[in-house]
Amino acid sequence: MKNAKISLKLKFLGQDLAGKKEMFKKKSPPPATTTISKKDPVSKTADTMIDPLIFRCGIKGFECVPFESIGIFEKMISTSPKMKILFEQIKRVARSDSSVLIRGETGTGKELVAKALHENSKRKTGPFRAINCATLTPELLASELFGHVKGSFTGAIQDRQGLFSLADQGTLFLDEIAELPLDLQARLLRVLEEREFIPVGGTQPISVDVRIIAATHKSLRAEVEGKRFRADLMYRIRVIPLYLPPLRERDQDLLLLMHYFLMLYQNKSDRKVSSIAQDALIALLQHPWHGNIRELKNVVEYILTMGEGSEILIQDLPPEFRETSIESPLSNISSNPHATEHMILAKSLIPQDQITLHLKNQEKTKILLFLEQENGRREKVAQRLGISRATLWRKMKDYGIS
Ligand SMILES: Nc1ncnc2c1ncn2[C@@H]1O[C@H](COP(=O)(O)OP(=O)(O)OP(=O)(O)O)[C@@H](O)[C@H]1O
Ligand SMILES: [Mg+2]
Repeated sequence: MKNAKISLKLKFLGQDLAGKKEMFKKKSPPPATTTISKKDPVSKTADTMIDPLIFRCGIKGFECVPFESIGIFEKMISTSPKMKILFEQIKRVARSDSSVLIRGETGTGKELVAKALHENSKRKTGPFRAINCATLTPELLASELFGHVKGSFTGAIQDRQGLFSLADQGTLFLDEIAELPLDLQARLLRVLEEREFIPVGGTQPISVDVRIIAATHKSLRAEVEGKRFRADLMYRIRVIPLYLPPLRERDQDLLLLMHYFLMLYQNKSDRKVSSIAQDALIALLQHPWHGNIRELKNVVEYILTMGEGSEILIQDLPPEFRETSIESPLSNISSNPHATEHMILAKSLIPQDQITLHLKNQEKTKILLFLEQENGRREKVAQRLGISRATLWRKMKDYGIS
């Protein structure tokens, strides 16, 4: 009956949100190129500007982040000292023309940093062009970057300008630079050294004045050691390295950003929320957030789309939040080397006895579920939980499971 209700609601939302199909996707593939120029203002292509007034009447459960601790820079918001240092670095680096390499996990805001560098530089009146080096074949990538002349390959029916020409006097953002094929790495190095290039199939060099900002989620040093990336190119593009910490290392940013996106998106949603249940808050704080801020935005959309009522409940969260690992309970964080800052925060925010009770309930439910699925075979259950049979036996005894 409940499932029928959910599918009905989804069907309804599917009609209502025509054209917003990406809402239910985990991660949509990034477009190969993006542009900002003065004719095409930032506000049209990037996210909404941050409005601190959005927190005026907040959501109960998130109010622990002190308003005074919030730092805002361009389209980024953070309460983490690490991010505030980064904001200062961006301002300083933006003034120079040096090549910058931004390193950070997926969804941490690398493109936002690249745009912030451009917008704060003397090139801001020029174009900002971006390309994702991981999404095109080597041939297409070469043509995108350097352009081509008519007839240089099948399908080249006319001359085409490449991004190096189009970004002249501006900034070119090379996303996922570690994926650039080796022969294109050699050509890129030449452009950086000589400030000119020859289009695919062409003979005449073209001079350009472009600032390069690159990004990667990989260690370029490891790529160089593995002979997948040229050392000379790494030194050229890594003049100023900037590091974007993952969400789990940014103190209270999870709560701040969750609060921020909830307040922002609920204006456009049918659902209005005013509080969050404690078990839902714990589940959010315990989640590893490997997809970082992009994942967080998706979760907010999921909550506002799938849930009902003014309180965010645990069942409003995506399924993976309802299967928290019993291997990293909050009650053990002091001895857990993988404890994230969010888990430490959760411990300080929520009374210890409630955390313990919540985790015990979760653990008991999981053991009962696995026992049922494995037809009572304790060895299998212990294996799935990653604990010994003796530990499983002790836990079953504690929980009164026979
Ligand atoms: N500090 C922040 N404040 C507000 N929004 C943010 C912040 N950081 C990132 N975002 C938002 O999170 C999303 C992901 O950011 P972005 O695309 O810049 O990440 P990325 O590191 O380039 O990701 P990928 O590695 O997948 O290309 C975007 O919608 C961006 O606007
Ligand atoms: Mg990106």
